[in-house]
Amino acid sequence: MAVGTQRKAIGELRLVDLRRTYDDFVAVDGINLDIPPSSFFALLGPSGCGKTTTLRMVAGLEEPSSGRIFLGADDITNTRAYQRRVNTVFQSYALFPHLNIVDNVGFGLRQLKVPNWRVKAMEALELVKLADRAKQRPRQLSGGMQQRVALARAIVNEPDILLLDEPLGALDLKLRREMQVELKRIQSEVGITFIHVTHDQEEAMTMADTVAVMRAGSVEQLGSPAELYDNPATAFVANFVGKSNLLPIEVGTVGAGLVKVASHGIELTVDSAQFPDGQTTGLQLGIRPEKLRLITDADATLVNRLPGQITDVSFAGVSTTYLVKMAWGQEMEITQPNDGSARAELGQSVTIGWDPHHCFVVGA
Ligand SMILES: Nc1ncnc2c1ncn2[C@@H]1O[C@H](COP(=O)(O)OP(=O)(O)OP(=O)(O)O)[C@@H](O)[C@H]1O
Ligand SMILES: [Mg+2]
Repeated sequence: MAVGTQRKAIGELRLVDLRRTYDDFVAVDGINLDIPPSSFFALLGPSGCGKTTTLRMVAGLEEPSSGRIFLGADDITNTRAYQRRVNTVFQSYALFPHLNIVDNVGFGLRQLKVPNWRVKAMEALELVKLADRAKQRPRQLSGGMQQRVALARAIVNEPDILLLDEPLGALDLKLRREMQVELKRIQSEVGITFIHVTHDQEEAMTMADTVAVMRAGSVEQLGSPAELYDNPATAFVANFVGKSNLLPIEVGTVGAGLVKVASHGIELTVDSAQFPDGQTTGLQLGIRPEKLRLITDADATLVNRLPGQITDVSFAGVSTTYLVKMAWGQEMEITQPNDGSARAELGQSVTIGWDPHHCFVVGA
């Protein structure tokens, strides 16, 4: 595909102490990020954490209160929006209703009097698999198709960076999942750096190479989806990215190998590699629901065990999720594959267990 293969030097984006305040409200609180060229990067965080404000500063639509923005070697902090090699795709795709699809995609190039604008627009439509719809009007296309047209319209300008602000937010769940796969394919074909903003953790996890989890104007943790899931750095990340059961722990000395800790007076074992550097107080042990087991005789070797009573059973076909109430009132969530092993019933007394290597430790 010509749109992709012609491209060579593609930008790396660097945000340095980027800050934006509105009166005395801090919307973005000194963010530092290095976004590698050609990567699929996600900004993930709850509503109001500063994702859109960050994107708008990169696009040049919002002026930073302080800090710098670099694209490759260039400081673009004071460069005007239209002079940045950055394009944005928004949730509302705002196509021109009176123009056909190819004219919508080629609109910007035509304004700039690019001679082969139609050829380029058709190439971009091929990339999003809509070349056969070139002559139709936007209203003749589904929501997902219209979103792909908006994407083609952004890509046709050959930006170094494409900013996507909740681009799938208006689509129903099934279409959303399909478009996630499509977007990922398109990104790897064109090699443009995609910065995708979402508050949907599953979307960020399935699509991005690297995810920055934002909270209240700051980046809480940066990592690959697997790193964030297996080793969340904070309780916030542990609960925002997937689900976690968190137990307060008291810790003695942390040596090498396996370490003994106590939670609610029960001795538990954790891999010392899980401990944040030097910290031994105010810690919580985290276990993902699918890492817990309902203990049967066959799991006799699991060293970490907690007794409890089942207070909820929800069957979901491939798996069943139980809530197990501990003596101290906490309900632990546990998900078991429906692989033929015995299921437990509401009200049953059970013991749950987990492997010392299948848990993590975060600050409280
Ligand atoms: N022009 C503005 N004036 C005052 N406050 C603003 C302005 N723009 C954004 N804010 C505030 O800055 C904070 C961050 O807003 P932002 O739109 O970046 O959040 P977001 O992470 O994109 O949220 P969402 O997921 O809901 O889109 C919010 O508390 C918002 O109210
Ligand atoms: Mg937003």
